[in-house]
Amino acid sequence: MPTKSFFHGADWNPEQWPEPVWAQDLALMREARVTAATVGVFSWSRLEPSPGVYDFGWLDRVLDGLHAHGIDAVLATPTASPPPWFTQAHPDALALRRDGVRLVHGSRDTYCVNAPAYRAASLGIASALAERYARHPAVRLWHVHNEYGTWCFCDHCARAFRGWLRERHGTLDALNDAWTTDFWSQRYADWAQVLPPRATQYLGNPAQELDYRRFLSDRMLAAYTAQRDAIKQVAPQAQVTTNFVLGGWVPVDHARWSTEVDLVAIDHYPSSLDGAPAQSAFAADAARGWSAAAGRGGRWLLMEHAPAHVTEDGVQRRKPPGMLARIALAHIARGSAGAMYFQWRASAGGAEQWHSALVGHAGPDTRTYREFRALGENLATEGRAPSYRSAYRKVPFPTDDACAAGDAEVHEAGCGDVAVWFDEVCGWGVGASHLPAPVDYQGIVEDWHRALWLRGHHVDVVPPAATLAGYRVLVVPAAYLLSDESARSLDEYVHEGGHLVVTYLSGIVDEHLRVRGGGYPGALRDLLGIRVEEFDPLPPGAVVTLDTGDVATGWTEHLTAPRAAVLARYPDGRPAVTRREYGAGVAYYVSCALDEASTARLLEGICAAAGASPIVPGLPDGVEAVHTPDGVWLFNHTDEPHEVAGRQLPPGAVARLAD
Ligand code: GLA
Ligand code: ZN
Repeated sequence: MPTKSFFHGADWNPEQWPEPVWAQDLALMREARVTAATVGVFSWSRLEPSPGVYDFGWLDRVLDGLHAHGIDAVLATPTASPPPWFTQAHPDALALRRDGVRLVHGSRDTYCVNAPAYRAASLGIASALAERYARHPAVRLWHVHNEYGTWCFCDHCARAFRGWLRERHGTLDALNDAWTTDFWSQRYADWAQVLPPRATQYLGNPAQELDYRRFLSDRMLAAYTAQRDAIKQVAPQAQVTTNFVLGGWVPVDHARWSTEVDLVAIDHYPSSLDGAPAQSAFAADAARGWSAAAGRGGRWLLMEHAPAHVTEDGVQRRKPPGMLARIALAHIARGSAGAMYFQWRASAGGAEQWHSALVGHAGPDTRTYREFRALGENLATEGRAPSYRSAYRKVPFPTDDACAAGDAEVHEAGCGDVAVWFDEVCGWGVGASHLPAPVDYQGIVEDWHRALWLRGHHVDVVPPAATLAGYRVLVVPAAYLLSDESARSLDEYVHEGGHLVVTYLSGIVDEHLRVRGGGYPGALRDLLGIRVEEFDPLPPGAVVTLDTGDVATGWTEHLTAPRAAVLARYPDGRPAVTRREYGAGVAYYVSCALDEASTARLLEGICAAAGASPIVPGLPDGVEAVHTPDGVWLFNHTDEPHEVAGRQLPPGAVARLAD
């Protein structure tokens, strides 16, 4: 029987195939030691072919088949894709785009999360599934919906937005103040005048845009919790989650949502083949950070990723031999409860017929399937990949809180002593603002993470709610929007002995995107001992060399450093990088965008001074080291052999470093 320790499997869509294929699939899954299959994600029109009329027979057979083969089900509610009968009966529940175009049926995610008919129908199908399957022995985890993140600007949304704004701001005066509506004569005299940020003539109001994302996040969360509660009402012990999708366009505050799921689950699709290891590490570290800050023990699950390819500029780049297992194991080493794929069997038709799958159009006799089967054997066989299993035995799935942030066991459970601050709401604020130069918030955060990752540090990616004490070094990149509370916690962090690295464009605005006056970065000026007079972004391609030889690109600032030492200067002698001792700690300010080598050099000095050592010093580029409770694991993501700490690493190898 396959081990149940890990989630090793994929989305399975048997409804797309005749039943004899199901039997082949189950036999293959068993052969590949699959432990879990996600079913039902987009099955609404099969499960409820007409309003209130259910057909569960086929799903009964699917779940029974899985159970008979020793495979668990991750059972989805199908609400990401309402059936045609629904949209035909409720045209008002179709999403309205920002530009007023009403979307029609024909893809997926074509609904308004605020439409009463959609909410009722969703709850109906979720409750019916719960009643039928809550006690089914195959069901290990409930997967509500799929990748929440849909936008709508319709009248249902407008009404709900006004209600949400009343709760948030209380009075129209407070709203006018928060949104700075005296700019361009937007002062509201009646709640009925307030609209979603629909298409308008020129630049929209940034605070309105930001509040709309917060609103959508809260409303989608309410839609999720309604389904979750319906399931738990029938089966209080049920474990329920939803799969997070990452990206600046997604109006979901995943840090906040993590407090409402039993297991943080993410989907991850890197945007370049070469960048995939670093991007995967970032997503994994972020998921672990959300989970830890939410009291979920740092435990999380990679719910979906692509089996055989990475889409790069629209081209599906094939994963080279060995990459399938290496990426899966790297996620597991970073705390994932397994590695699941989208999808099991490649669809013959439909919009994603060319998405790679574990069983491709050619059938199971392919390199992808063989590699997946070998991974299953590896995971299931004590001795060949024992550490992954034993590494996380201390943190049992799914509710153990031994690794909760701030707990002494954080480090034991594989969390690092270096952290990078990542706040999706801040990213929304950056996206909503009309800044003096284009700024890619998540890109900047990932660059700093990558610089530490490349040097072999075990990095935690932490949301503002995380406990910061215990990290030797904390990097806060481009934290444009910073609340008073966050500023206080950063102050306390340094005061108590932390080494804080703050970059340009941090602490600039409050939670309503209003600039904090008196010199940037208003919220952190005193802590850093500096004062920025003006921004001076560089044109594309321009660089400035600092007196240290370090290179600034993209962004520079004019600042003075009344209470900080200057570590690097611009060519005209003005401060560029500063350092201030404060309380028991140190606060650094980096006023420019540094290139990769300069960032690495700076971090190396700061980490050394703070006593934060890499897991393995002197790692070759492309070799990843992960600290787990079961020792250090090495991943050679290059096609060259490397010697690391006296150990030979063949191209593509995954190996455990002897203690
Ligand atoms: C996400 C979705 C899947 C599928 C894949 C394609 O994981 O949840 O339904 O669309 O992306 O990459
Ligand atoms: Zn709507």
